Amino acid sequence: MPAKSRKPLISGNWKMHLNHFEAIQLVQKLSYELREADYGSVDVSVHPPFTDLRSVQTVLDADRIPVLLGAQHCHWEDKGAFTGEISPALLAKLNVRLVIVGHSERRQLFGETDEDVNRKVKAVLKHGMTPIMCVGETLDEREAGTTEERVSGQVRAGLVGIGAGEVGGLVIAYEPIWAIGTGRNATPEDAQAVCAAIRGVVREIAGADAAGSVRIQYGGSVKASNAGELLGQPDIDGALVGGASLEADQFAPIVRAAHG
Ligand code: PGA
Repeated sequence: MPAKSRKPLISGNWKMHLNHFEAIQLVQKLSYELREADYGSVDVSVHPPFTDLRSVQTVLDADRIPVLLGAQHCHWEDKGAFTGEISPALLAKLNVRLVIVGHSERRQLFGETDEDVNRKVKAVLKHGMTPIMCVGETLDEREAGTTEERVSGQVRAGLVGIGAGEVGGLVIAYEPIWAIGTGRNATPEDAQAVCAAIRGVVREIAGADAAGSVRIQYGGSVKASNAGELLGQPDIDGALVGGASLEADQFAPIVRAAHG
């Protein structure tokens, strides 16, 4: 695979899986599987449930494991009367580096709107962390031929009011909703076409430099067997991995596929 100018980012979204003991075991196993060459060529992040963050942070620090700590979600306010919510300030204090924003499960099951996503992207940036802003179409939208319209709209709405310099440092995850957890991934060609369209929207709103540096991940049933082809596409700079990130021996080959 030709080296890309953008360092690939492979992120494990653990969703509502693994207690803190299991989380510690998984990062330790992952650290046995990954080599210096992997970390040198690929950024790797894990996104455990909130209750695991402190334990995982401690292991990463103590064992000097160069995996980036991530969260799955946050509120946009720094603090306040928001029972059950977690603020970006609280995450930053735990050395969280990347925060998934607007995952389709949050949008579909918990009613997050494009406006909420935009507020969260800004809040995450304000605290010096990197948002992984998720976009993606439903099966109905795909079948109606409106994928690019839908995804472009989500990208535009999510980036309202964010400066060009900051847009270039973002991560956008293209996750077709029908491909998440279904074992049915988008074809590399289809995923590439949508990721190229997303880069085009970023170019339009934030300029060529931002478009050249923004990292675009593909997500939706990524596994060791399909990662190579997906990650080989010119506009796919990484993967957001759900199911296959829960086992170190399934996740590590995806990291390796990102650098051939
Ligand atoms: P999956 O999930 O890899 O299990 O399809 C991806 C995601 O939801 O981020």
